[in-house]
Amino acid sequence: MYGFDKRPVLIDKCSKADEAINSLMPQLLKEIKKSDVLKKALFGAEFLSATEGVLVTLTYHKKLDDSWEKEAKALEEKLNIFLVGRSRGIKKVLSSDGVWDSLHVKNRVYKYYLQEGAFSQPNRSVNSQMIGWVLEQLLKSDCKDLLELYCGHGNFTLPLSGSFEKVLATEISKASISAALKNCEVNKVNNITFVRLSAQELTEALDKKRVFRRLEGVDLDGFNFSHLLVDPPRAGMDEKSCAFASRFKNIIYISCNPKTLLRDIEKLSKTHKIVANALFDQFPYTNHLECGVLLSSL
Ligand SMILES: C[S@@+](CC[C@H](N)C(=O)[O-])C[C@H]1O[C@@H](n2cnc3c(N)ncnc32)[C@H](O)[C@@H]1O
Repeated sequence: MYGFDKRPVLIDKCSKADEAINSLMPQLLKEIKKSDVLKKALFGAEFLSATEGVLVTLTYHKKLDDSWEKEAKALEEKLNIFLVGRSRGIKKVLSSDGVWDSLHVKNRVYKYYLQEGAFSQPNRSVNSQMIGWVLEQLLKSDCKDLLELYCGHGNFTLPLSGSFEKVLATEISKASISAALKNCEVNKVNNITFVRLSAQELTEALDKKRVFRRLEGVDLDGFNFSHLLVDPPRAGMDEKSCAFASRFKNIIYISCNPKTLLRDIEKLSKTHKIVANALFDQFPYTNHLECGVLLSSL
């Protein structure tokens, strides 16, 4: 048996990370080390970089009191960042719980509010190409209404909405749906209905097996879906959601895990054929890969 060397390794650069994060990390560390209040019981720092700034979440094993808030506010101003403190289920927002990002897709710029703690794509330029690829695929088919599952803050939804008459987009995270509604308003898009529902709940609602108060005022029967877009987490789609997807004529499957994508495509290949596919190096210098697949019913 070979043992692992348990001594800590100092990592003072991370070339995979965004440049803004790379330049901020050593400054942040230096400032935190100067303050007993900020450094005591700190066990993690997470970074969210956007075109309009960097948001840092500091997570602690202690209660965040007034003295922490005062020092954190001074640090926020000194480094020109947004700071959020987290401790035992409590979240302390100093000036903002998110940060605005601009994304160029084809000839348009979209503004997105990236909410702290919610999912956002890690690579802006690859993300923009990925959305562009989906838009190009849509030119090949007749688009009526779009159903999107796992929509996050509307990353795909907003640029795709221009190709459809109406869009119904759902997602499990409250924070993402709240950002999606904000993003819709700021980008002046008015043909999208965002609802907080899991993929499983939406299937039950469409099949009229369950009634949800969250769907009050939404006319599900008024949609004529020609396309389904799914962008699930690494685990892929569950058995029921896959069976649900197989009812749609056109499926756009975006995946960050080729293994679960293969598993799900094998199931969908009983009813669908692959029309186009693309690979996106969304996570350079890692063995992770983002894939896009367009499927059409047999
Ligand atoms: C890979 S992210 C994609 C988000 C979005 N499409 C984007 O490009 O930013 C997957 C999303 O699925 C959501 N999610 C996870 N499990 C879900 C479920 N069972 N039903 C609906 N959404 C779910 C997560 O909150 C996350 O926002």
